[in-house]
Amino acid sequence: MEMEELCRELPKIELHAHLNGSVRDSTLLELAKVLGDQGAIDFSEVEGLIKRRGRSLKECFRLFDIYHKITTDHATVTRITQEVVEDFAAENVVYLELRTTPKQNKAKEMTKHSYMKAVIDGLTAVDSVEVAFLPSTVNARNLTNFLPNEVTYNQTHRKKIFVRLLLSIDRRETTAAAMETVNLALEMKNMGVIGIDLSGNPEVGEWQTFLPALQYAKLKGLQVTLHCGEVRNNREIHSMLDFYPQRIGHACYLEEEHWEKLKVSKIPVEICLTSNLRTERITSFKEHHFADLYNAKHPVSLCTDDVGLFSTTLSNEYYLAATTFGFNKEQVYHLSRNAIEFVFADDEVKRTLAEIYDAAERRFIL
Ligand code: IMP
Ligand code: ZN
Repeated sequence: MEMEELCRELPKIELHAHLNGSVRDSTLLELAKVLGDQGAIDFSEVEGLIKRRGRSLKECFRLFDIYHKITTDHATVTRITQEVVEDFAAENVVYLELRTTPKQNKAKEMTKHSYMKAVIDGLTAVDSVEVAFLPSTVNARNLTNFLPNEVTYNQTHRKKIFVRLLLSIDRRETTAAAMETVNLALEMKNMGVIGIDLSGNPEVGEWQTFLPALQYAKLKGLQVTLHCGEVRNNREIHSMLDFYPQRIGHACYLEEEHWEKLKVSKIPVEICLTSNLRTERITSFKEHHFADLYNAKHPVSLCTDDVGLFSTTLSNEYYLAATTFGFNKEQVYHLSRNAIEFVFADDEVKRTLAEIYDAAERRFIL
C-alpha cells in the first residue's frame, strides 16, 4: 500500500478541529450566495476570500467573522456539524474531538445553550456513519455492542465514529462570559461535552481574564486545552504551562526556557502543520518544531485545526509528516495510535480505540 493510501485508510484520531473552520467550502459558498441574493453580504467579496489560499493569521480571524455571519442560524449550525462529522468519518477518523465557541445572537433567538443544542442535533442527524457521542456511563450498551474490526472494515457493517465536544472560550470574551461557557459545558457533560478550549485571535485578550473560568473548569473535572504560543508572549506562555492544561495546541513561539518546561511537564501538543504554514507561523514544514518534539519522544498528535479554512484533511497531515520527515508505515501507524493516550474520553473509549488499532496493525503494517 502506498503512503498516501495508507494515510487515508489508517484509523485516525483528531483532537484539534474547530467546527466553523472545518465547514466545506461548497457549503459556505452556497450559504453565502443566499445571503448575497438577500443583500445581507457582498457575495463576490466573500467568494474571493473563501477561494483564496494563503492567509495571514490576521486575515484568518477576519474571515472567521464572515464565516460566523454565514453560519449564524440554528439550522445551519446543525447542517455544518453533520457535514463536518461525515467528512472526518469518510477519511477514517474514528475519534473526533470537535471544538466550537457557543454563540448568542438575539436576532436569531440564539443563546449559547440553543447553539449547542443545534450542534447536538447535527451529531444525531448524521446518517452516513454511526456517531457515538455520549459518555460510556450514559450509553454503555453502544460501546459493548461495538465490534471494531467488523464495524470499521467490513462493508456489511456501518462505520462508527466517536465524537466528543469541547467548548471554546474566545479570547475576546470577558471573565463572566468565559464562566458562562464553563457552566454550560458542565451542564452538558452527559451530552458528550468533555472539556474546554481557549482560542481566538492570540493578539487579543489577557490570559488573566480567562484564568478564573479555566481554573473552575479544571476543579470541576473538565479537561482543558489551550492555544498556546501562537504569537510571541513570554509571560503568557509561562503562565499557561504553569496552569498545566491537559493538552496545548500549536506551541509555535516557545523560547528555550519554555521548551524545557514543556518537555518536563509532558503536556501533549496538538500539532497543526498546514495551519502553521498557511498562517505564516513557519516558512517550511521541515523547520516545524514537530520534528524536535517527536525526536525527544514528547507526546504529540497530528491535527488539522481548520480543514475548510486551510484546505487540508487529517490524512493529508499524516502524509505531509511522513513525506517531510521520512517516516515509514510503522512510524505513521504508531504516530496515529499514540494519540489514544491523549484523548479526553474515558478509558472504555480508549480500550475500544486500541482494539481498532490492533485490527489496523494487521491490515496496514504486518
Ligand atoms: P467556532 O468556534 O466553531 O466558531 O470555530 C471558529 C473559531 O475557532 C474562530 O472564530 C476562532 O475563535 C477559533 N480558531 C480557529 N482556528 C484558530 C486558530 O488557528 N487559532 C486560534 N483560534 C482559532
Ligand atoms: Zn486551533
